[in-house]
Amino acid sequence: MRDFLIIYVNGRRHEVRGRRAFQSLSHFLRYDLGLIGTKVVCAEGDCGSCTVFVGRHEGDKLTYRTVTSCIQFLYQLDCTHIVTIEGLKYDGQLNPVQQAMVKCQGSQCGFCTPGIVVSMCAMFEKKRDVNADDLRGALVGNLCRCTGYDSIVKSGLAVDTTTLRRLDDLYPPDAIVSDLIKTAGESVRVTDQKTFFKAVTIDEAARFRAENPDCMIISGGTDVGVQMNKCLRDPRSILSLAGMQALRGIEVKDDAIVAGANATIAEMEAFTRDVLPEYSRLLYYFGSPPIKNAATIGGNVGNGSPIADSIPAIYAMNGEVELVGTSGSRRVNIHDYYTGYKKTVQKPDELIARVIIPLPKAGETLKLYKISRRKDLDISAFTAAIWMRHRGNSIDDVRIVYGGVAANILRLRQTEDFLRGQAFTLSNLQHAGKIARSEVKPISDVRGSADYRLQLGENILTKFFIDVSGTTSGNGNGWNDGNGNGNGNGHSVDPTLEGIAGEVH
Ligand SMILES: Cc1cc2nc3c(=O)[nH]c(=O)nc-3n(C[C@H](O)[C@H](O)[C@H](O)COP(=O)(O)OP(=O)(O)OC[C@H]3O[C@@H](n4cnc5c(N)ncnc54)[C@H](O)[C@@H]3O)c2cc1C
Ligand code: FES
Ligand code: FES
Repeated sequence: MRDFLIIYVNGRRHEVRGRRAFQSLSHFLRYDLGLIGTKVVCAEGDCGSCTVFVGRHEGDKLTYRTVTSCIQFLYQLDCTHIVTIEGLKYDGQLNPVQQAMVKCQGSQCGFCTPGIVVSMCAMFEKKRDVNADDLRGALVGNLCRCTGYDSIVKSGLAVDTTTLRRLDDLYPPDAIVSDLIKTAGESVRVTDQKTFFKAVTIDEAARFRAENPDCMIISGGTDVGVQMNKCLRDPRSILSLAGMQALRGIEVKDDAIVAGANATIAEMEAFTRDVLPEYSRLLYYFGSPPIKNAATIGGNVGNGSPIADSIPAIYAMNGEVELVGTSGSRRVNIHDYYTGYKKTVQKPDELIARVIIPLPKAGETLKLYKISRRKDLDISAFTAAIWMRHRGNSIDDVRIVYGGVAANILRLRQTEDFLRGQAFTLSNLQHAGKIARSEVKPISDVRGSADYRLQLGENILTKFFIDVSGTTSGNGNGWNDGNGNGNGNGHSVDPTLEGIAGEVH
């Protein structure tokens, strides 16, 4: 077991010991290494000015993804290669993205510019031939308060991609990877007033949990990083799961998606593009690229927010959470997992190992909705997941799940009872909406008033009917399976529905 972290920054190896291991990555870059090109504005992952690359070795390759360094702590980053804005220059010159930003006046005060350049470079790592939409998508997590996005997008379109060098070219991976392969399998424990433990096996993690029942688990850190920066949490003992290979990976097994708890939201979005496109479509609107690159499915479920975006689909598909602890593993149906606001049946020594999401079968429809005040990078005001099985034109079975209307994600059993056995018609879905309204007890907060959420709870069932049937008239004219694989003559329509304002995804 090591008592220090190994972190590469712009090709240089660093060993980080003691108290220094407990700081955020942005703090380490700026104050320990003097790399002040990385800026900090919000310190909560929202503005993207602190965006950097994190490279992790996958086999003999280094795979780079962007993250917001203000909410990443060093102890999550053992055995990684960080590339900052300073590390993107070459031959003593600005790189072609930076040159285009200068030429097209993509920067004024410059505070957002390093993050914007890193995000653009990440996009060009994946794809050279980009259009304005690609650029806007890549910059969802980067706020600019003074330049305006027209010049920034123009800069991106003006980049001379023929002279752009890839990260693997700037930092040949062989030497870094051979060091990381040797060291990444080692657990790490650092104690300095606080204790941090990076487990590499489930056994080690469960034992540490059992010995330190109050320890805080950290996966991607996108929830706890914000809480710690805002002084809402100051754990004495921290268990990082970032090094646990057993919690990685996503597969389809027995007609279900089986996702390791460490699967990131970006990986879930990519994996489900083919197998469950409706889920992938919804996850597109989760946070921003750097948030999705760090945030995990285990963290979203473990955090247990009533407005978490990944969870309603797990409820609607009757999914499960696999927990592991010192006495082995067990699967808990998601409907039995939460016992109150952010309370679960998880025992003190347990952690989430996997999340299981059954796939819809023929004759089944899943539709997912996220309503937020802004189209991109916004927390949901209301979410809904509706699964329905039909026989002919009647509703054989249904599960309706809403988020943002109670302390926990809520299943609407009375509404479901009414709909089972009914014809799939607009009037039945409208009537169901009235029952749904009576089943929820939303509160008013910054994201929406209780009245607004009540109206959404009622109207979303009408929207579901229109999306699935492709008609606003009384009777459905065929089912679209709603999973992105149209098998009826329906198509997705998005009329303005009374009471539904804001962005509907
Ligand atoms: C800018 C920004 C935008 C965001 N946008 C969205 C959004 O659009 N939709 C959304 O749903 N969320 C959003 N979030 C919240 C957050 O990104 C998600 O909840 C994310 O999935 C958390 O995953 P994580 O791995 O980062 O969790 P962490 O922060 O590491 O952990 C979260 C909680 O889960 C627990 N935990 C983590 N892993 C496990 C495990 N394996 N077993 C048991 N407990 C565990 C931790 O102890 C902690 O209590 C956003 C956050 C930020 C900062
Ligand atoms: S400082 Fe705003 S995202 Fe990090
Ligand atoms: S240039 Fe000032 S915030 Fe973007």
